[in-house]
Amino acid sequence: MNRNLMTLSGLLFFALGNNVQAGDLPDKQAELKLAAPAQDADYLKMRSLATIPEGVFGDKVRLGYQLFVNTQQLRGQYVGNELNCVNCHMDAGRRANASPLWAAYLAYPAYRKKNDKVNSYQERIQGCFTYSMNGKAPESGSEPLVALSAYSYWLAMGGLMDKYGVTGAVPELSDAELLKGGKREDFVLPEAIAKATTLDERAKLPGRGFPAIPKPEQAYSPARGEQVYRAHCQSCHGENGEGLAMGGVYSLPPLWGPNSFNWGAGMHRVNTAANFIYENMPLGKSVQLSHQEAWDVAAFVVSHERPQDPRLEGDKVMELSKRYHQHQGYYGKSVGEGAVLGTQSYPINPVKQ
Ligand code: HEC
Ligand code: HEC
Repeated sequence: MNRNLMTLSGLLFFALGNNVQAGDLPDKQAELKLAAPAQDADYLKMRSLATIPEGVFGDKVRLGYQLFVNTQQLRGQYVGNELNCVNCHMDAGRRANASPLWAAYLAYPAYRKKNDKVNSYQERIQGCFTYSMNGKAPESGSEPLVALSAYSYWLAMGGLMDKYGVTGAVPELSDAELLKGGKREDFVLPEAIAKATTLDERAKLPGRGFPAIPKPEQAYSPARGEQVYRAHCQSCHGENGEGLAMGGVYSLPPLWGPNSFNWGAGMHRVNTAANFIYENMPLGKSVQLSHQEAWDVAAFVVSHERPQDPRLEGDKVMELSKRYHQHQGYYGKSVGEGAVLGTQSYPINPVKQ
């Protein structure tokens, strides 16, 4: 079993929340334990999207790509904020060290010791719909999950085939196979790849996740982070983290407030945000932040109200905080003179006005 994927927060939980349908809310935003990025890592190279084949299978892959870059087409149905998957998983989920889909696909199903449960790839995606997209996860086996899995699989398999000299189209898989993910003994692989790599090696491809940056020298500070934000982020993400929309379409994503990811999303942890920001922001890397600046600005960004954690029962913010928020974050805490974060959160999955 892959110990890196075992987490501390895997308690069983109960689905709740006023606007959320009863049923299992996934607990999939558990933190990945990641090392610093490898030097000169040999990242898988992605095939051009123009090589996605014609036909039914290719159509699924194409739909997955389209949903990933324009997730707003599922707004109101499965999406309750103004984000698209690609806002955090950069370059259509292809960029190494920006939690690429190809590395993720080969790391599921993942065993979780705490609740003795196995997370399939589709369950992991359901987690990002529930929390990062502040929405309602598509039903297991539904078209969006098949499509997003097909796209991820196509990226991963195409990359592996090219690396190990296997020519031709990516082999087609059934929907049921696609949804599971590629970390399983019965996952069908071209022989050259099966011979050259082990299951565990494929599940830990260089470039997976958002690589960890060193701990800050000084304790991270939202107050110092505000200075970084005003200097390097506000011009794009807005004075109040609100992002920028033109004609109702966001070209610059909101970082906090009602239209951003909710309190259950992985990005609300200071460390995860710091890792993401250090590697990917400011966009275009016009400025390289120091590690300290990345921690401070991350703390500033995630110390503002955002949509409620859908696991909240009634108004028991402190209880939820104890149960699910024993990590570097601000849910259940106040910053300066401010109210306890989580007590004035925005709704889950609101209908777009
Ligand atoms: C607000 C940022 C954000 C958005 C938007 C987002 N995600 Fe994620 N996603 C994350 C974070 C953070 C992680 C956890 C990565 C980590 O812990 O290093 C993650 C993890 C994942 C993983 C597992 C990665 C792995 O290597 O285990 C998949 C797959 C995934 N997201 C798919 C999606 C899909 C599909 C969407 C859109 C429906 C989406 N995400 C939207 C931030 C986001
Ligand atoms: C030049 C404009 C620009 C600047 C400056 C910039 N960003 Fe971004 N940021 C973006 C865009 C565009 C995306 C979405 C990327 C995509 O979809 O490919 C993004 C995505 C993000 C995300 C993930 C999505 C979300 O809404 O949560 C975070 C977090 C973030 N930026 C934080 C920052 C921080 C912190 C800074 C300052 C250090 C910063 N950005 C500077 C343009 C910018």
